[in-house]
Amino acid sequence: MPALQNKQIIIAICGSIAAYKAAELVRRLGDLGAEVRVVMTRSACEFITPMTFQALTHNPVHIDLLDPEAEASMGHIELARWADAILIAPASANTLARLTAGMADDLLTTLALATSAPIAVAPAMNHLMWANVATQDNLTKLQQRGYTLFAPKHGQQACGEVGEGRMMEPTEQADRLSQLFSHTPAMKGLKIMVTAGPTYEDIDPVRYIGNRSSGKMGYAIAAAAARQGADVLLVSGPVALEVPAGVTCEKVRSAREMNHAVLTQLKGIDIFIAAAAVADFRPVTTSEQKIKKGDAEQAITLVANPDILATVAQQEKAPFTVGFAAETQDIEHYARGKLEAKQLNMICANRVGGAKGGFEDDQNALELYWQGGGERLSMSEKNVLAEKLLAKVISRYRPAIKS
Ligand code: PMT
Repeated sequence: MPALQNKQIIIAICGSIAAYKAAELVRRLGDLGAEVRVVMTRSACEFITPMTFQALTHNPVHIDLLDPEAEASMGHIELARWADAILIAPASANTLARLTAGMADDLLTTLALATSAPIAVAPAMNHLMWANVATQDNLTKLQQRGYTLFAPKHGQQACGEVGEGRMMEPTEQADRLSQLFSHTPAMKGLKIMVTAGPTYEDIDPVRYIGNRSSGKMGYAIAAAAARQGADVLLVSGPVALEVPAGVTCEKVRSAREMNHAVLTQLKGIDIFIAAAAVADFRPVTTSEQKIKKGDAEQAITLVANPDILATVAQQEKAPFTVGFAAETQDIEHYARGKLEAKQLNMICANRVGGAKGGFEDDQNALELYWQGGGERLSMSEKNVLAEKLLAKVISRYRPAIKS
């Protein structure tokens, strides 16, 4: 039986130019067998009439909290109990802020407080409003409270500007809503290997060549994949992070150790994600004794390390292979170069060396590229970003294994 068959869904509509797309969403959910009731904020009614939704759902539309007539037919508490899920689409910046504050100053926010059903939000707003730290903080808090984010897309906006903030398309929202009811987590049955952290290339017993990777990005990906039901092996360089729940971790030190750990455990892996910052070179020799200061200049001769990602991608039965690219300039150019040169399915480019994102920071932004396409994931907490990245990886992995 389809996941949405006989499910009772509230679509809550905020004031946004994207409100007209809610009509298509309601129709689609009806086609999938759901029973839909619509809640509108007062400002939503400025963009599209309640009559449209009454005609589509064959149910009265709920607008006011303090409407005796509406309360007599189905009161707000009854409505909150009736719902198997609530999807707020489009969700405005104002409503996200009111939800975060726990306000109950209209029907929509009151329902959100009064329900025990899962709540998803599909934001739609100007890209600067979306990127604003206040909006991002609100979303992080809502997600920590269990809200599901149907993340907006990058593209042309109603105001004429281009950026991230376009509401997710109704068909994709319907698919994502189905997943909320599917008892099978999105990555159940998949074996994922993730590399994370730096590698250390020893010069002598006290010195090494390393880099600034903290492992936060890779660990966030491993944790998110485990939450989604995947069987996760994390191959980690030296970092000071706890191994996430449900993740098997092999700790390594050097690039050659990481290479060995990856290649010996690659069989049966469905998706390989290389978030580690692997040292490209190592000293030709490692001194057994501490090198003394002396007077003479020291020169360290370096030799290339194996390219782990390229080796994985070149295997006869290669997994779906996702690389990272740490760049300081011409990000798309260099990232696409690595995508081609290493024969990857996807590359996630991030800007490093700036004030925000990249190495060590709790936040990051990614530019995803694949052959013939791409998508930007805006600056957010690495754990939120990891969820968005995995949603994209899964959506590209499924068709890839069928072909
Ligand atoms: O760990 P954090 O502090 O959270 O920081 C996250 C990060 C910036 C390290 C991460 O987001 C990131 O960008 N990781 C890749 C860094 C990197 O080494 O980029 P690169 O452009 O040099 O390498 C390209 C790809 O090849 C990477 O997927 C890398 O893992 C892989 N590689 C590189 C060299 C090598 N010898 N073997 C590899 O597998």
